[in-house]
Amino acid sequence: MKNIKVALTKGRIEKQALELFEEIGVDTSKLKEKGRKLIFRCENDKYSIDFFLAKANDVITYVDHGVADIGVVGKDTLLEMNRDVYEVLDLKKGICKFSVASLKGKYNPNSYKRLTIATKYPNVAKEYFMSKGTDVEIIKIEGSVELAPILNLADAIVDIVETGKTLKENGLVVYEDIVDISARLIVNKSSIKMKKDEINKIIENIDSIVNKEEKE
Ligand code: PRP
Repeated sequence: MKNIKVALTKGRIEKQALELFEEIGVDTSKLKEKGRKLIFRCENDKYSIDFFLAKANDVITYVDHGVADIGVVGKDTLLEMNRDVYEVLDLKKGICKFSVASLKGKYNPNSYKRLTIATKYPNVAKEYFMSKGTDVEIIKIEGSVELAPILNLADAIVDIVETGKTLKENGLVVYEDIVDISARLIVNKSSIKMKKDEINKIIENIDSIVNKEEKE
């Protein structure tokens, strides 16, 4: 049995992703009291998996370079980075969307003025406004993007909306929805050939759990 290296995005989707691996029979007990460790070998009679915990962008980089065979990462980061990896499964976890938001009355897409958009996702924002034929100035912000229209840095933001709580508590509203987002399973292009049996077993078993209802 070949060892499979899995890069997991730390934070929001980490717990849900691990639950999926546990449901297919991976012993993930080592990751439950992990402290500050970042690599975990999980082995039993069914699987040999090394899990790495990393930031979303880095998960894609590790899979793209083949140091991880499989990755679990949000569609938001996949859209922003646009790297050459196989996206094999929608895990239907971490469901949220990309939206255009701003303070009430602050954003007018029909204005003659060139709009300024603040975002952590400049490529997603650029592509969206280009598809609408709107020329905008994009300002990259690393976090708490909701501040930008409040401080008058931007006319609107392109950001992730999950519960809508952050927007609401800061007096912002959604103007346009761009695309739905969820966690995805990605695979390195040569790993899928070199470790075909082990990787297919993981994909098929997770698929049968994620899409259980449709298959029944
Ligand atoms: C994301 C996003 C919003 C928030 C949306 O930020 O950028 O700020 O979550 O979630 P909600 O609709 O449930 O309120 P994150 O917490 O990842 O941190 P950041 O602001 O530092 O990017």
